[in-house]
Amino acid sequence: MTEPISVLFVCLGNICRSPLAAAVFRQVATEEGVESRFRIDSAGTSGYHNGEPPDSRTTATAARRGVEVTGTSRQITGTDVEEFDYLVAMDADNLRAVERLVERVGVGDDGPAVHLFREFDPEAAGDLEVPDPYYGGPRGFDDVHDLVERSAHGLLEHLRERHDL
Ligand code: 4NP
Repeated sequence: MTEPISVLFVCLGNICRSPLAAAVFRQVATEEGVESRFRIDSAGTSGYHNGEPPDSRTTATAARRGVEVTGTSRQITGTDVEEFDYLVAMDADNLRAVERLVERVGVGDDGPAVHLFREFDPEAAGDLEVPDPYYGGPRGFDDVHDLVERSAHGLLEHLRERHDL
């Protein structure tokens, strides 16, 4: 068995964007028949919502669009930095926090590849953030879902090329 390609999606609270990103990415990988090649998880840069299920607005929007979002919020750890091949941040603040953690853990050249998720959104047009929908209205959740779907397809394409999938 080859080692799975491990991808950790990271946002602030791990109740809205990153659990959704993980669920959508898993679904896209399943549709393309490569899900078994991946270890997919999500985490928050904060522990504000540790132990909580995903936000009900995220799960409701996703369910309407055929995606089941599951999981229990947890904060990213140094072990994640050591174990995961890809750390995929939702916005610039998350990215900075992840980069600081990577530096603290000191994994050097063996460390994970760190990306912003929307680097893989073909319609990003220079805006590389998945905006935080937490304090916005329900429309924010549909918009976020759109960005996440496009980015998930783009990320899978990137990984298929890099890993010959
Ligand atoms: P997430 O959204 O980072 O996409 O999970 C948020 C959830 C909670 C908070 C902020 C963003 N909060 O401040 O509690």
